[in-house]
Amino acid sequence: MQYRAILAISAILLAIAACNSPNSKAKAPSAEEPNETQDALERGNEIAFEAQGALMSQVSSALQQGGTQYAIGYCNLKASGIADSIGALHNAQIGRIATRNRNPNNYLKNATDSAAYQSFEQAMAAGTTPEPVLKEVDGERYFYKPIVLKMEACLKCHGTPGKKVQKETLEALAKTYPNDKALGFEIGDLRGAWKIKLE
Ligand code: HEC
Repeated sequence: MQYRAILAISAILLAIAACNSPNSKAKAPSAEEPNETQDALERGNEIAFEAQGALMSQVSSALQQGGTQYAIGYCNLKASGIADSIGALHNAQIGRIATRNRNPNNYLKNATDSAAYQSFEQAMAAGTTPEPVLKEVDGERYFYKPIVLKMEACLKCHGTPGKKVQKETLEALAKTYPNDKALGFEIGDLRGAWKIKLE
């Protein structure tokens, strides 16, 4: 009896040990990871979509209300409260980055920003659609989504001076953004990217 009991226990222990063997452990993450990445990408896309929608409706109603110069004051994500409200709703930090930035705070901040941005620029140069990417740094996850200029309305403030951007708009922009690099764009250009820290 006793011998059998020992055998049975050893069998159970062996089974447990097998479950924890490096082999079975190695399988688990590779089976789960794609889903996790997919989920994070979907979450990032959803947040970017909402923030974009909120910003667009705010800027377009400001354009209708008071014209281009007036609307300039409604393009900052933080001042408008959009970054905070949508960020709090989704437990995320929402921002935008660009190499040709208007707001000095929106320039790329680190190697991860640069790597993500470069992947967008490379896709653009190759004539393909740049795709969102997820980056992990020190256990933190960052979602990046390219912003390609698609609407004529964007050119009122980001197009070629004198041609699409009126003199009064240029003057108003220069007051708040003396180092503005976000002019001279055309439809189809990469204007910037959403950068969203998923918490
Ligand atoms: C009324 C003028 C105006 C219009 C129209 C406008 N923008 Fe902007 N945009 C600005 C201003 C002002 C900023 C700087 C906001 C800030 O202080 O963060 C800005 C910033 C940005 C940024 C962040 C990077 C940077 O340069 O600081 C992106 C990306 C951007 N705009 C894309 C667009 C797109 C895409 C459209 C069209 C859907 C658009 N903008 C329409 C005025 C405008």
